[in-house]
Amino acid sequence: MVYYIAQFYKNRHNYPPGPIPLPLIGNMLTFRKYKRNWSMEILDFKRIYGPVFTLWVGPLPFVIICDPDMARDVFNKSEFSGRPTLLMSGIYNNEKHNDVIFNDYGPCWKYLRQVQHKAIGKYAKTKALSELVAKSVRQMVDNIITNEGIDKPFQTRHYAYDLFANILGSIMYSEKFDNKHPALKKYKYLTIDYIPEVGNAMMMYEFVPMSKYFMANPLAKYKCYFNELLIYTRNIYQNHDKTYDSNSLRDFCDILIAAKHEAIADDKLSAQYLTDDNLLVTLIDMFIAGVDTSQITLMWILLYLAYYPEYQDRLHSEINFELNSREPVAEDISRLNYTLAFVSEILRHRNVAPMGVFHKTLADCQLGAFSVPRNTQVLVHQFGIMNNTKYWTNADRFEPERFLDEHGQFIQTNPGAYMPFGCGRRICPGRALAINDELLSIKFL
Ligand code: HEM
Repeated sequence: MVYYIAQFYKNRHNYPPGPIPLPLIGNMLTFRKYKRNWSMEILDFKRIYGPVFTLWVGPLPFVIICDPDMARDVFNKSEFSGRPTLLMSGIYNNEKHNDVIFNDYGPCWKYLRQVQHKAIGKYAKTKALSELVAKSVRQMVDNIITNEGIDKPFQTRHYAYDLFANILGSIMYSEKFDNKHPALKKYKYLTIDYIPEVGNAMMMYEFVPMSKYFMANPLAKYKCYFNELLIYTRNIYQNHDKTYDSNSLRDFCDILIAAKHEAIADDKLSAQYLTDDNLLVTLIDMFIAGVDTSQITLMWILLYLAYYPEYQDRLHSEINFELNSREPVAEDISRLNYTLAFVSEILRHRNVAPMGVFHKTLADCQLGAFSVPRNTQVLVHQFGIMNNTKYWTNADRFEPERFLDEHGQFIQTNPGAYMPFGCGRRICPGRALAINDELLSIKFL
């Protein structure tokens, strides 16, 4: 025991500074004191230790970066682009299949991400997307009126979720995901319901080794639902593969299947990774990553439009002026300067991933003045960076105008401290689709 404690404190000096951890539990007692939102409250450590600090969750160190230049610099390097091996990653990545989100950096991740990117790129700016969003928004508004009536307050959460489930379900599988769809309940659990259900139990089970002796696995139900979704998606995938026509690609599923056939026909290195099992988990991945993030962003948009009616008027008149009640096409989106600035500011001010997503170091590496050992979890504090007065004037104020130039044109080059979709090699591949989905949803609302 004495040896373990001595080693623990010796090892601690291999990481950037931070509050003193206790053996086995790390800084978990500090987290207990937090009343509001721990991801915001840990920003206090930046004032004490500087823009890079280490927090220990159980016996595991987490290095947090709060500096945008350093974040971009290191996340552009392959050695900072791994993903930690968590219990959840084992559900997506195992001896049977691999995905993108939880997959470690390497050729399998690279080739799967490439096809994902290609599929998203093909769809993000099409007229078909605009028509689909129009139809789905109309359906959502009808459902709201039928179920909630008019002029009464209601919870937007499930309607917003169903909207993006419908949009992504159609883009991905040509499936209509209305709220009676049998797979939707499972998807909903995997994306939004399991977090409130399992709460901190997942962190305990994941990071405190002793907890496995007195707790049931909080991810058991998650795994069970995931397996059911795998069967469901395999069915759709196999039907697509049987009816696939390379001259008429219907959806993401077809685009992924086309990439597989192409890789096999050309005997490409990628063929060994573009397997049926990997591709269908990659499809589930996109749904999981895309629906929840887009839904939460739309809920913020709706809240801000209700809270600041002046923005409602401004967006309304820009959309009316530029589109004059016709259906928008891809080129129209770039003319909606104020609406683009509004969505960009929502993503800055109320980012859905305040602390980004875990990365893992793949080798011993240098992080500014500090060295970080291999297999360390690294996080970029996106909220801290995007709300830091050093990089943003009136950082805490909601001001879409900050994204416009003096002629009212949307500034295409993002400021260095703007990173709602992460940064570097693992930056969100769905960002173009996400922004267009939000813009079109505003247009049709
Ligand atoms: C407002 C909407 C969205 C936001 C704010 C968002 C944000 C993010 C962030 C912060 C990451 C982590 C980047 C990193 O690891 O450093 C990420 C990853 C990812 N996102 Fe998004 N996302 C959004 C929508 C979407 C959509 C619509 C899709 C696909 C249809 C998507 C697919 C993915 C995937 C597959 C990854 C994992 C990439 C990888 O590990 O290489 N996202 N996203």
